[in-house]
Amino acid sequence: MAEGRHRLVAVSNRVGPLNDEGKAGGLAVGLSDALKRRGGLWFGWSGSTSAEGTFKEASTEVENDVAMTTIDMNEEELEGFYYGYANRSLWPLLHYRLDLAEFDRQSDRIYRSVNQRFAARLAPLLEEDDLVWVHDYHFFYLGSELRQCGYKGRIGFFLHIPFCAPEIFTALPASHDIVRAMLAYDVIGFQTETDRRNFVSFCVQELDGEELPDQRVRVGDREVIADAYPIGIDAPGYARFAVSPEAGEHEEMVRDIAGDRLQIIGVDRMDYSKGLVERFRGFERLLEDYPENRGKVQFLQVAPLSRSELDAYVELRRELEELAGHINGRFATLDWTPLQIMTRGFTRRALAGIYRAARVCLVTPLRDGMNLVAKEYVAAQDPDDPGVLILSRFAGARSELKDALVVNPYSTDDVARALQRALTMPFEERKRRWETMRDAVFHGTAANWCDTFLERLEASGGDTTKAPDPEDADQG
Ligand code: G6P
Repeated sequence: MAEGRHRLVAVSNRVGPLNDEGKAGGLAVGLSDALKRRGGLWFGWSGSTSAEGTFKEASTEVENDVAMTTIDMNEEELEGFYYGYANRSLWPLLHYRLDLAEFDRQSDRIYRSVNQRFAARLAPLLEEDDLVWVHDYHFFYLGSELRQCGYKGRIGFFLHIPFCAPEIFTALPASHDIVRAMLAYDVIGFQTETDRRNFVSFCVQELDGEELPDQRVRVGDREVIADAYPIGIDAPGYARFAVSPEAGEHEEMVRDIAGDRLQIIGVDRMDYSKGLVERFRGFERLLEDYPENRGKVQFLQVAPLSRSELDAYVELRRELEELAGHINGRFATLDWTPLQIMTRGFTRRALAGIYRAARVCLVTPLRDGMNLVAKEYVAAQDPDDPGVLILSRFAGARSELKDALVVNPYSTDDVARALQRALTMPFEERKRRWETMRDAVFHGTAANWCDTFLERLEASGGDTTKAPDPEDADQG
């Protein structure tokens, strides 16, 4: 539907791709589906650095009805904003990893100034009746900065990753500033009810706010909507990918290599939130405790590298490669390598084929906003021979995919038991579980997510009350 009475203006750090090529995180998948349907403007970072940074002229590419306008950052902005505040402070904190979070005032300052610069560059491109939709933890301050620029139209925000419990979030020196700034948005969307509750609790406990009916929250004289809008995938489109020639080639390749063996698959950006170390240990425990699987199963972990400049990610890669070496060294035979880890990415079509060839998919993050791999695995399955999804209780997708085998990813025994159960599950149970998950995935699509959020944003009033003055904000 290219309809919608208002132009959609989406803002996110990464912009594109609009096609299905390359590695794509959940945000890129959900937003490109939404923009392809509605048309509009997608604004964000170019992915490049230059000396002028956010002051350099913007570049715009138009594809069908979507204009993608991007600006650069300079090295200092990239370091302080992206590597520093977004990925050394906010990412670990919001994923409950206070042990990995680092806070310093230099990156806090640069993060705010990049938000301000992006707002200043975007404001002249906006019209009053646009629906501006800002995405993810890179841009908590962007809405309030747009208000400072005088923009009075509707601005929504969606957080793709978890919003942690207030007890953890308060460790962030600027936690009060951030949540106060978020109140400049008209609608604030979260992946799950748990995330919404954490945000509302922060407003109540820390900012003397009040929870109101109809998913509203009031802090001072500002009243906003804070609700859960679980993101989905273009399920029919993905199911078609799964029967495309490219998918077919990959499905066949995996089946040829696996032979009679049952294939277990995992697909994740190489990130400590994904629980890869714990997952490998769970697989090792399967081979220890259920020796009948030796020589009979193989586990392929696709883990494209991500944020490799950061120490925590370098360390994770080292640990995983060592652990994979240890497991293979311990169990491999001349004609069987139990575990394979690949850091190259695949296109979404190729992955759909790989998913179809796999009897079991392991999605065991320690924390995850939603996890669209789980939904894609379900959508890609052959209805006559569907596979089994093992899903972490800490993934947002868990609340919709109730018929997955749900595990505690921290428990090696739990993961091993679930693997054994999945590998030996009778056909009828496999099919019954898959059918209810398929219904959920086809029901809560990317299109529904987008329409539901934007309807709510459209019905909201725009800047009708005074946004809190950042000067008044206390430092928490
Ligand atoms: C997650 C985040 C996205 C981010 C993606 C890839 O899905 O929610 O905002 O773009 O990871 O991470 P990167 O740091 O490479 O953009």
